[in-house]
Amino acid sequence: MPSRPYVLLSCATSADGYLDDATPRRLILSGPADLDRVDEVRAGCDAILVGAQTVRTDNPRLLIRDPRRSARRVARGLPPHPARVTLTATGDLDRGARFFAPGALRLVYCATPALARAANLRDSAVLIDAGDPLSVAFVLADLTERGVARLLVEGGARVLGDFLAAGQADELNLAVAPFFVADPAAPRLNLPGPGDGPMTLAETRRVGEVALLRYLLGPGGPDHRFLRWAVELARLCPPSDSAFSVGAVVVGEDGEVLSTGFSREQEDHDHAEEVALRKLARGRLGPDPRLRHATIYSSLVPCGARASRPVTCVQHILAAGIPRVVFAWREPRLFTDGEGAEQLRAAGVAVTEVPGLADRARSVNVHLTDASSS
Ligand SMILES: NC(=O)c1ccc[n+]([C@@H]2O[C@H](COP(=O)([O-])OP(=O)(O)OC[C@H]3O[C@@H](n4cnc5c(N)ncnc54)[C@H](OP(=O)(O)O)[C@@H]3O)[C@@H](O)[C@H]2O)c1
Repeated sequence: MPSRPYVLLSCATSADGYLDDATPRRLILSGPADLDRVDEVRAGCDAILVGAQTVRTDNPRLLIRDPRRSARRVARGLPPHPARVTLTATGDLDRGARFFAPGALRLVYCATPALARAANLRDSAVLIDAGDPLSVAFVLADLTERGVARLLVEGGARVLGDFLAAGQADELNLAVAPFFVADPAAPRLNLPGPGDGPMTLAETRRVGEVALLRYLLGPGGPDHRFLRWAVELARLCPPSDSAFSVGAVVVGEDGEVLSTGFSREQEDHDHAEEVALRKLARGRLGPDPRLRHATIYSSLVPCGARASRPVTCVQHILAAGIPRVVFAWREPRLFTDGEGAEQLRAAGVAVTEVPGLADRARSVNVHLTDASSS
């Protein structure tokens, strides 16, 4: 297992950074298109975490709305809905809250002094003694042991701040609504600056009326952050017993994400790099000119030999004119013996290997690597 889950922070704010207004009614910041986007993000996670105050004030369901997304999870061997997780220092939670409704695993991390107060939740959730004081590091270590590889943190302000302050976040998705709240009594996004330098802006997108800003965080700067994202994309691959699950991200010279892909995303034998490049359709004058200054991040070294199709990913990358490749994991000789990195270097491509992320990339494929070593 990786050392901790990939942590994705997600929230919607007003244009002046408020998470809610000061009235007892919940302020609706997202429209239907953004709620659908969040539904998709939820479907790709193993657990959704909110603070106890959000359970009390918003009473969220934390379920996947679109049954097709739940069905796809089940087809991948996952439960229909991610687990629900909350943190509490007081133990003051109402077991009638929707958080405790059946349909998904419920985990309550409770600071030791409040365990007695929270004891009435034992029938409705797994109550976990999270120490005193409760720490984000403990929660993440415990979630890892429970098999959570991808955690979505949906707020509120205190919880988002705790994860950032602990340096335990990989991504922040900020949906900015087109109005102001301008009320100092309302809860506001008041986050500590991430300790690892400026965030990496990976995407800006209009989603209905909101502007989605997608930032990557964490150590190692942009290269490590984009590569971690590529590794995460591998988790979306349709399962296979005979091919690796790989993710790829193509990033332009100015840091703009040009394309992403994952294995078998469009067709059965697709490789991640192949799909990402296919999405950047060739124009009449050849490949997208931005590729001449781009970097492709791939969780696995691009293939230099291939059984399933005649053109290898190395050949696709060279044909596109991409000058730089960053990868995490060297292909174990399971299916082919292609020397992708060496072929790329011989052709003049700058190749960077990040072995520190290899375990994470491998962990998505343990069913193949463990089977071959047993
Ligand atoms: N716009 C959005 O996307 C969005 C999303 C979610 C929430 N919200 C809004 O955010 C507001 C709630 O935010 P909030 O900051 O007040 O509360 P919160 O972050 O939802 O929850 C804070 C509570 O969680 C527990 N907690 C968090 N970190 C802890 C730690 N390290 N150790 C122990 N306990 C910990 C404590 O519970 P106890 O009090 O039980 O000790 C704490 O009071 C609401 O108005 C809600 O509508 C907005």
